[in-house]
Amino acid sequence: MFIIYAMILVYYLFAVNTFAFILYGLDKSYARKNKRRIPEATLLFLAWIGGSIGAFLGMHIFRHKTQKRKFSIPVPALAVLEVIICIFCLYQNYYLVTTEYQADLGLENDITIVQVSDLHNQFFGPGQSFLLSEIEKQNPDIIVVTGDAVDLTHTSYGIAKDFFAGAVKIAPVYYITGNHEVYLKGEKLDKFFAELEDLGVVRLDDTYIDAGEFILAGIGDASLDDFDAYGAFPEDKPVILLGHEPQYIELYQSLGADLVLTGHYHGGQIIIPGVGGLISPEWELFPDFYEGIRVYDGMSVVLSRGLGNSAAPVRINNYPEIVVIKVT
Ligand SMILES: [Fe+2]
Repeated sequence: MFIIYAMILVYYLFAVNTFAFILYGLDKSYARKNKRRIPEATLLFLAWIGGSIGAFLGMHIFRHKTQKRKFSIPVPALAVLEVIICIFCLYQNYYLVTTEYQADLGLENDITIVQVSDLHNQFFGPGQSFLLSEIEKQNPDIIVVTGDAVDLTHTSYGIAKDFFAGAVKIAPVYYITGNHEVYLKGEKLDKFFAELEDLGVVRLDDTYIDAGEFILAGIGDASLDDFDAYGAFPEDKPVILLGHEPQYIELYQSLGADLVLTGHYHGGQIIIPGVGGLISPEWELFPDFYEGIRVYDGMSVVLSRGLGNSAAPVRINNYPEIVVIKVT
């Protein structure tokens, strides 16, 4: 239900501010034409219930009620408060942080992996420049994208493609699909995959490559519940596995993975200090594992908080995250 409440809140704020703006304009025109007016209590009420920005804009654009103290003091004050809350939410949802982990796989040559997860075609500057510049600073050997690059509810293949087009200029890019790509299946998604292939992005859905010192493998989200795509890996090499969802620990162990990179949980959307992430996509409240790195019988699992949002458009205390893994 949380996701539904968050969606309703955003749409509500948009609607009530638009409505307030229109009503202030209408009341001004009624005043000029000596028509029956909209009660002042109604106009003020709209400002108090979240429409203060629309009311403030209506007052100043239509030059209406600006001389009346019962409007000129509370409406701007409420609008400032609402703007502060909006800036706070934008900051929480667009300020990029980088988290670094270490994983010892016994490699002779250390590598740096940048993991990008759950982009959900979120916009991080023109051509995704803010995101790409942060990634470039890490000087990665490879970039892995662990699913949900595109979002089902506000799909933009163009924004997602901008990211891939820039990322391939930084390092080789490997990608697996998440549950959102599974939902989106169809002609447009196939075209998107073809465009990524043209860019040089390697899709590792249910396949793997021998990267020299290690195996880099992936599981497409559609296969997680019934996976039998490939047999055993070469035994003498460590396996880095990309899997969108963190809860398939037994499957990942059965494949002999040494390091698994996952996402999907979005850090639980809201992280409450001392308590943890609020909710998982599986509707579990305060899931035990919502971010970070854990070791399960020698297999390390990284859970990225990801970058974007889906139907729930709000992150709080849960900044969009670029994960960097130093593999030694
Ligand atoms: Fe996601």
